[in-house]
Amino acid sequence: MPVLLTTIDNLVFTIRSLKEQDNRIGFVPTMGALHQGHLSLIKQGLSACDVVVVSIFVNPLQFNNSSDFKSYPNTLDADLKLLGSFPNLYVFAPTFDELFHGQESDFKVEVGEVATLLEGAWRPGHFGGVIQVVNALFRLVEPDAAFFGEKDYQQLAIIKIMVRKLGLPIEIMACPTQRSPEGLAMSSRNMLLNTEEKHQALIIWETLNYIKNKQANYSPKQLQELGKIFFNSGHLRLEYLEIVCVDTLQPISDWETKSICCIAAYCGNTRLIDNLVLN
Ligand code: PAF
Repeated sequence: MPVLLTTIDNLVFTIRSLKEQDNRIGFVPTMGALHQGHLSLIKQGLSACDVVVVSIFVNPLQFNNSSDFKSYPNTLDADLKLLGSFPNLYVFAPTFDELFHGQESDFKVEVGEVATLLEGAWRPGHFGGVIQVVNALFRLVEPDAAFFGEKDYQQLAIIKIMVRKLGLPIEIMACPTQRSPEGLAMSSRNMLLNTEEKHQALIIWETLNYIKNKQANYSPKQLQELGKIFFNSGHLRLEYLEIVCVDTLQPISDWETKSICCIAAYCGNTRLIDNLVLN
């Protein structure tokens, strides 16, 4: 079993002694309900660092919808078991009060327009909450490197901006999305899908690949409209399908700009997101 830390005192004491022994510290922030995607972040962390701290904290500040927060899987015991075989691993699983001590507002950081696009437009306040928790955790863990999945592409972009803005000496490492053999992007939310929904959710991956493969034939705007047709079957409820610049996340008008297609859709009651770099 990994070392489980639940208080800031214990975390700070552990980090200090790891640093005194010159350990390079990797950090993988999570909201638990761990799956192969998280394990791949941890593996990348352990290959680049001496030790890895994994935080498990379902952050209420980043849910703009209270029923989404309530239904989010909470599986600490199973998570610890899953991490059992990893060496040099520390798990930090604080309560809300332990983490913030009523000071959550102190960790707000303004990152600009990028937080208002895509996910930001559909989940107002979401990135504000992500920033608060990641900033608070970065201050405590003081990692040399932190590992984030590319599935949450916009989150990754925003964390990079935050770190640059605050001048934090943390390397932000982007890790490829892990997928089921059929292409479903690994996500803690997949636990909420039944077998039929897991099958229906593959429409997202099919759409992303269709768009990637048809660039030579259509403009971004035309492909955006063609991609939306995949959702007409009614199995998934599309929130957005956008083809945007990989840096600014603003819609593109031609294929000169390096671009990414980002999709958010509901499968039953479960909201899924995915993306694919196009060129
Ligand atoms: O990607 C996630 O799981 C969360 O947004 C994060 C980074 C752990 C912050 O709560």
